[in-house]
Amino acid sequence: MAAYYKPFAPLIERIKRDGKCLEGGILKVDSFVNHQIDPTLLQSMSIEFVRRFANKEINKILTIEASGIAPAIMVGFLLNVPVVFAKKKKPSTMNDMLITEVFSFTKQRTYSVCCAKEFLGKGDKVLFIDDFLANGNAAKGIIDLVQQAGAELEGMGFIVEKSFQHGGEMLRKMGYQVESLAIIDSLDNCKITFKA
Ligand code: G4P
Repeated sequence: MAAYYKPFAPLIERIKRDGKCLEGGILKVDSFVNHQIDPTLLQSMSIEFVRRFANKEINKILTIEASGIAPAIMVGFLLNVPVVFAKKKKPSTMNDMLITEVFSFTKQRTYSVCCAKEFLGKGDKVLFIDDFLANGNAAKGIIDLVQQAGAELEGMGFIVEKSFQHGGEMLRKMGYQVESLAIIDSLDNCKITFKA
């Protein structure tokens, strides 16, 4: 087993039971993670994130709308720290903001992600939480926002990492503590192969 990877058994079992494979290397977990949500599983996954980042001093959770919000809130609740979600559309009421561009491999387009300077700044010790880590483009956007803000990124937690898209490899090489509860090595031939 890779030293950085500890599979979270309740999630692995649930993916085996209810996860579906789509063409193009997409794992559908919308019956329990990102459309219908199983709050009991979400709670246990969030407790696991808190355990894995217990070595860090965290005062803010950051995510990107939409699917990251649910796990981010649960982790923020457990740590009793605020949760900020970066927005994919600039709100008309937001003037003083940090902005970055993210390329979505899945959607093959670039979109802007923004966050009010008021909610991310110097002195913030940030944990980024999201549902999927694929190529890591969303994470790169978050790194940029955190750097612009002069804050510190203490770690990144993902529910599912797809190792064949190499985002995790890139982020770990950059020196970040990346914790993924399930790592999938392949979805070839619509078969889910987990990292051992
Ligand atoms: P990257 O950020 O790691 O580079 O990934 P990519 O651009 O490929 O991902 C774009 C979107 O697709 C993200 O959601 C991501 O969570 C989602 N995604 C990536 N791989 C999978 C997968 O195998 N299954 C599912 N269900 N989603 C995947 P998003 O477009 O930002 O949408 P939202 O759902 O957060 O609003």
